[in-house]
Amino acid sequence: MKKKQHPSTPSLQHSNHIAVGIITISDRASAGQYEDLGGPVLKEAAQKNGWQVLSEAIVPDDAERIQETIRSFSQQGCALILTTGGTGIGPRDVTPEAIRAVMRVEIPGFGEVMRAESMKITPNSILSRSLAAIVDLSLVIALPGKPSAAAECFGFVSGAIPHAVALAQRKPTSC
Ligand code: MTE
Repeated sequence: MKKKQHPSTPSLQHSNHIAVGIITISDRASAGQYEDLGGPVLKEAAQKNGWQVLSEAIVPDDAERIQETIRSFSQQGCALILTTGGTGIGPRDVTPEAIRAVMRVEIPGFGEVMRAESMKITPNSILSRSLAAIVDLSLVIALPGKPSAAAECFGFVSGAIPHAVALAQRKPTSC
């Protein structure tokens, strides 16, 4: 039997009303030694999907700073938090560890798809430990630091974001 839709069910509304937070994670960008190019690239990508960018930050590769920024963006109402940088294997790359220490669950499919699709572009993609997780009520997606890589990886998974966000926010969904 077909499920009756509750009058307040947002149906597809959530796909067009996603509040987004964007965090650039880079020692050099946060110190002003580099221009932040990844943040603006992700902002444009989110806006192209019709989503609204609510909060933006540039933080160093420091687990505590990453965690407090994610938590604060979540409290500000960002249902989706995109990070760029710190997913590699350098000594200062701590983004995956920072997120895993505060997440409720990881969603491995995001990292799997990002790496598998990116391998068709460059073999170096295997070096990214990109991931997605639920932190508080937000979907957090950690993308690589290179602006083109962040944009590519976002594109590979963006189709799954509205439904994942609805589930993270505990909104009624069709599944
Ligand atoms: N993914 C895509 N799609 N395109 C890329 O050019 N570069 C890789 C990888 N993922 C790349 C990519 C490289 S060279 C590195 S070192 C890792 O992402 C980690 O990057 P990060 O430490 O800046 O997050």
